Amino acid sequence: MVERPNSAAALDIASHLHPYTNARKHEAEGPLVLTEGKGIYVYDDQGKEYIEGLAGLWSTSLGFGEERLIKAATDQMRKLPYYHNFAQKSALPTIELAAKLLEISPVPMSKAFFANSGSEANDTVIKMVWYYNNALERPEKKKIISRIKGYHGVTVASASLTGLPMNHRDFDLPIANILHTSCPHHYRFGLDGETEEDFATRCAADLEQMILDEGPDTVAAFIGEPVMGAGGVLVPPRTYWEKIQPVLKKYDVLLVADEVICGFGRTGNLWGSQTYDIKPDILSMAKALSSSYMPISAVLISDQVYQGIADNSAKIGAFGHGYTYSGHPVAAAVALETLKIYEERDIVSHVQQVAPRLQEGLRRYADHPLVGEVRGVGLIAGVELVADRASKAPFDPPGKVGAYFAARAQAHGLIIRNLADTIGICPPLIVTEEQIDAILDRFDKAMDDTATWVAQEGLAAVA
Ligand SMILES: Cc1ncc(COP(=O)(O)O)c(C=O)c1O
Repeated sequence: MVERPNSAAALDIASHLHPYTNARKHEAEGPLVLTEGKGIYVYDDQGKEYIEGLAGLWSTSLGFGEERLIKAATDQMRKLPYYHNFAQKSALPTIELAAKLLEISPVPMSKAFFANSGSEANDTVIKMVWYYNNALERPEKKKIISRIKGYHGVTVASASLTGLPMNHRDFDLPIANILHTSCPHHYRFGLDGETEEDFATRCAADLEQMILDEGPDTVAAFIGEPVMGAGGVLVPPRTYWEKIQPVLKKYDVLLVADEVICGFGRTGNLWGSQTYDIKPDILSMAKALSSSYMPISAVLISDQVYQGIADNSAKIGAFGHGYTYSGHPVAAAVALETLKIYEERDIVSHVQQVAPRLQEGLRRYADHPLVGEVRGVGLIAGVELVADRASKAPFDPPGKVGAYFAARAQAHGLIIRNLADTIGICPPLIVTEEQIDAILDRFDKAMDDTATWVAQEGLAAVA
């Protein structure tokens, strides 16, 4: 309840429509107002400290207050605070960033295109895929296959790729030509006794059947996150990517890797595509590209895709797509400095070193009465809470217990995110083992509180 009428909280309620928020709940309860950040910690306007256990939105990889990024931004602001990249203009940091991304790409790529968010990057991907197929005089080859529970953004087109009901319901989505194939989550969708490998085979067969049902000449691309994030931190079953990729090759379907969360070390390799041996034709990235200090995203395209787009741009007169802030020089300078820091501090090795502490620490909950599954890789993890471990029955309504857990974690000084009843953990990549212990400690307190509450409310079969 907001009691001080002139407070930031009251003003927020009066003036601000929040993304991904229950607006009526917000009117009643108000916001948590964050005012400062340092390392993995953030502080609210009352001075309370929190560990940012989700790195903001899976994104602030270098934590808060990284002076080098602040300097990179201010230096570039002084030199050239803005320029665009339309009509053969370019700026130095943008050029350097494009070249650097091609150098570190998990597979040979031809060009980088810049946008400002993951959604815009994936929107751009859809347009590129359509434009490319028109260039190749394949006007029928336009359908894009995504996955149930995939997350690719919220613009009209990228929300259509997203396979979560909340992003479609009452927005009149998805748009035409976007399809969703099976969700590769073994715990939820594997059959009794089905191994991960057999389940992966079935997912690949589902995909192939969808392509055949639709007609291979109408299917242009498949998009997937190496590890699905917002859908509940879903780690693919063993051999999944190995089995999906030949199906795409067989029907000349482009593979798009959405590395918006997985890119830049999150899974213990620079790219999620390396962790799962994915060979994309197109790769989208955002978030940790700039440690989220500036909004920037990028799309890398293979030479094959580039040649089609380039030919068509010559035929039409231009590639008629781009944002005022595509390749913004300040954002590009910050991204470049972020990539330098990753290299200098060998952030990938750091993740490999500390990740077991988090993964093993969380797996201690695998037998907890409220926990159905603990999953994760590198520094991303999900703990799925269930009403009944034996039947895997979820809580009813979904998300209520997860939200309670998140609120209790926040009270104990840990910000995490509940994805319905899965608790997502994704700390800044700079997190140390000691700090992981502190995360686990606060997580434990939230788990105890949740177990007590669930028992009091009689929400679980066993509590
Ligand atoms: C995998 C993935 N793709 C795309 C997006 C959309 O990015 P943005 O919120 O920057 O538009 C997200 C955001 O969480 C994401 O996790």
